[in-house]
Amino acid sequence: MTMINQTVIREAAAYIQGKTGLKPEVGLILGSGLGVLADLIQDGISIPYQDIPHFPVSTVEGHDGELLLGTIEGRAVVMMKGRFHMYEGYGPEVTAFPVRVMKELGVQSLLVTNAAGGVNTSYKPGDLMVISDHINLTGRNPLIGPNDSALGVRFPDMSEGYSRRLRQTLKTIAAAKGIEVQEGVYAGMLGPSYETPAEIRMLRTLGADAVGMSTVSETIVARHAGLEVLGISCISNMAAGILDQPLSHDEVMETTDLARDKFLSLVLAVIPQM
Ligand code: HPA
Repeated sequence: MTMINQTVIREAAAYIQGKTGLKPEVGLILGSGLGVLADLIQDGISIPYQDIPHFPVSTVEGHDGELLLGTIEGRAVVMMKGRFHMYEGYGPEVTAFPVRVMKELGVQSLLVTNAAGGVNTSYKPGDLMVISDHINLTGRNPLIGPNDSALGVRFPDMSEGYSRRLRQTLKTIAAAKGIEVQEGVYAGMLGPSYETPAEIRMLRTLGADAVGMSTVSETIVARHAGLEVLGISCISNMAAGILDQPLSHDEVMETTDLARDKFLSLVLAVIPQM
């Protein structure tokens, strides 16, 4: 992976623009088990990550690697089916590189989704959580290094990482559909081992409601780039130590299946409002 600068961002975007005349306005990043949304894209084209100049390639099972462009509910969208994680060995700026490319393509708002462990003991597997805020506990930041002021400011404001307007919109849609949603704080960890029970108690003390291994770098870069962000976590399991059972990636994938219909119904309704 080359250093990320305007030249490589433009090369990736130019390649994508060479495949379709579509000008996406909304970006979507689909987390583990949430790739089903990709089936609902209309007149879509798919570009494997390995074909896009400077794109990394995702290495985790259950995470696909393709960029889709098309329309959903009349909106032009660009969708990542599969994302990049720091635990794969990528730097945080690499995991968020596609967000830079989306911005270059013309995207103005970003929906980030993920599977997450429930830290708040009132949550249940299969719940959906609107992300109100995050705690970046990865110890890394995608903006480290010289700041290119053409991409954003040196010290971006994070007081509204997750758009108040979009959160409210999503909650209004959920209420109208009779779908229960939680709202809470997402703690971003480096992974790839799941947390220990002591770490989960710590996260709860710190004010986290859910925990996962993605999203925070993407949101930081999106805010740096001036994008409005909406985040949705699918609570795929209770975090370590809450139930007397081990955690497994299979459980994470199975539970996201259970939440699929609610997830799709909310996301389809919110996209036109993004
Ligand atoms: N911890 C961290 N990441 C996760 C979890 C978890 O319990 N579930 C899904 N992603």
